[in-house]
Amino acid sequence: MNKNLPPASAQLASQMTKDRVEILLAKMTLAEKIGQMAQAHGSEDGVSDDQRRALELGQLGSVLNIVSIDVICELQRIALEDSRLGIPLLIGRDVIHGYKTIFPIPLGQAASWNPELIEQGARVAALEAATVGVNWTFAPMIDITRDPRWGRIAESLGEDPYLCGELGAAMVRGFQGKDLSAIGSIAACAKHFAGYGAAEGGVDYNTAIIAENELRNVYLPPFKAALDSGVASFMTAFNDLNGVPASGNEFLLKQILREEWCYQGMVVSDWESIVQLTEHGFTANDKEAAFEAANAGIDMEMVSNTYSQHLESLIIEGRISLAQVDEMVKNILRLKFRLGLFENPYPQPDKLPALVNHDHRQAAKKLALESVVLLKNSHQSLPLRLSALSSIALIGPLADDAYEQLGTWIFDGDADDSETVLQAINAFAGDSLTVNVDRALETTRSNTFIDIDRTMAAAQSSDAIVLCLGEESILSGEAHSRADISLPGAQEQLIHLLAKTAKPMILIVMAGRPLTLEPIIDHVDAILYAWHPGTMAGTALTDLLFGEVSPSGKLPITFPRMVGQVPIYYGKKNTGKPPSAESVVHMNDIAPRAAQTSLGMSAFHLDAGFTPLFPFGFGLSYTSFTYENLHLSSSTMNIDGVITVTVDVINCGEREGQEVVQLYTRDLAANVTRPVKELKQFQKVHLSAGERQQVKFLLKASALAFYDRKMNRIIEPGVFHLWTGGSSTADLNASFEIIGDKAVTVAP
Ligand code: BGC
Repeated sequence: MNKNLPPASAQLASQMTKDRVEILLAKMTLAEKIGQMAQAHGSEDGVSDDQRRALELGQLGSVLNIVSIDVICELQRIALEDSRLGIPLLIGRDVIHGYKTIFPIPLGQAASWNPELIEQGARVAALEAATVGVNWTFAPMIDITRDPRWGRIAESLGEDPYLCGELGAAMVRGFQGKDLSAIGSIAACAKHFAGYGAAEGGVDYNTAIIAENELRNVYLPPFKAALDSGVASFMTAFNDLNGVPASGNEFLLKQILREEWCYQGMVVSDWESIVQLTEHGFTANDKEAAFEAANAGIDMEMVSNTYSQHLESLIIEGRISLAQVDEMVKNILRLKFRLGLFENPYPQPDKLPALVNHDHRQAAKKLALESVVLLKNSHQSLPLRLSALSSIALIGPLADDAYEQLGTWIFDGDADDSETVLQAINAFAGDSLTVNVDRALETTRSNTFIDIDRTMAAAQSSDAIVLCLGEESILSGEAHSRADISLPGAQEQLIHLLAKTAKPMILIVMAGRPLTLEPIIDHVDAILYAWHPGTMAGTALTDLLFGEVSPSGKLPITFPRMVGQVPIYYGKKNTGKPPSAESVVHMNDIAPRAAQTSLGMSAFHLDAGFTPLFPFGFGLSYTSFTYENLHLSSSTMNIDGVITVTVDVINCGEREGQEVVQLYTRDLAANVTRPVKELKQFQKVHLSAGERQQVKFLLKASALAFYDRKMNRIIEPGVFHLWTGGSSTADLNASFEIIGDKAVTVAP
């Protein structure tokens, strides 16, 4: 049996779908074909006359952004019963981190480094969204970003191609399930193809300039991983990539996606991103925009209608061929068949679990628990011991705000379902703990205190302070970028004032991005970085605060000391003048009139050095882990070889805990310069106090492939370093060599 072929049943199903698509396509008029390529914005109020008419004429393929089950049923009914061919609709919705049960924002989910939990989260989201008839989500967003100013970093899975690919694929599996046609499965969408996360200055929608080699080695691998996991659709991006907007980019959509990767699914534009080709200065008018987008290979146009207005004349003029349109329509129809929409077009809520049910809440809690990163814990200030405390001051605008803890992109989440830190602490501690609550600031952005004397009094009269600060949801997400990524408003000032009480101070940060914490880091005893944790924020944080569970999150993104260090990421290139502790001088320490060449002459900032505040992969626990006995099965491997890497991980503390064991490599000399470290694998392990566990990785030479100067994907002989540990600064290391006469080219 050929192992590369899908099982016979899958082959048969795919052949049957192919036949059905061909049969249906043969019956379609050109207007109906072009109609399938249109996606319109729906209204919760009902089906508009225009949309009804378009549906009756078979001239609408999809509707997005409605969740009224009645409207969705009516839309499907018209499409099925009142049109000539009865083709069901794709119903799209941004179900990004939960539908009603809200999970942590994706960046928070990524901090869990737990693909299983992330898959379950997407599964819950799919089951809930499917109850109203949503059959397509615009997730996962797998744009690599290294810029916390960018508001959509909240929606991303962080800076690393491998981690992002693994977790994005987990989301795809969760949304789509094992069988896309099963009730409760919805189509996923890999977005935004491509380069959107490299927006200049972190300004949303901005131009991205990414050298092709970097594009292929860093920005595209997560999309390939999503494709390999069977993602049903791709969405293009808003940005201009190297002078060609992504939504008219033949190189991306035709050469890479279709030709090199052999993608057979459908491609949708982003919201009006086709008409925006003209705004970019790439096309002169809507007709040219339609031409460029269709020519590049966008199958469906989101919201704008350049296709419905101009495709027919472009075909008549011979600029777009009918065969090309047929291929695009086939991509759309194939998805509708794969989803089983011809058999089951209507929602079947009675066959699906209830919204926000206990299991869904527990899944969201688990993920919230694992997404929180313990960044600092001086003198074991955490966990708080209920027996040793009679009161705490719970201070800050995010301590009791059921909405703001949900984060960006929560169209359907309901604050009434979510539990705040205050509510959860009260439920947990009951009468045994006095909680002196004080909001201190109206919002995280407020520059004036509500009543600072009252706030200080609350702190003074308590045994410990728990501060809930950060950013409200509106400060991150689409079109919500910031140039200053410090704690906004008077929050830093608040910390400085409270520090004067000398009470133990625990800071919980809820935010959509890494914030610059250096100005306050020495003034608090512990920091739990919670992102926006979602519906179960309160109970998850309470469990962590009081040590019911030990934190196990690890940063999926580097935390800069100050914004001027951005972009700062662990997988950087070495440069010809790498900095070291010895080569770095702080500007305050420079002697007057020091010689120009006396300052180390290496790559660093005079005011920030070269290290981040917290590195990628970092996160503490209430216990501690050490690593020993790093062993490689061989110090050499062939170009098609594999080595086994083992390392002992020891829980040397007194509590159980989870650790993310990370494996990094560096290719020391290559056809193109390679990053100083690259994450290659990771495993999350659970160890009881004192337990030692051997963790085993199989490292294949193929995992070390990269795109070279000629854009061939190669495995190259040479020496590699390898590290294992609990963060990207892990120092337990070894070396190995790939042996061979010459580099070999391998498939993408
Ligand atoms: C966003 C997409 C989203 C779409 C539909 C756009 O503005 O960029 O990510 O899926 O809107 O809501």
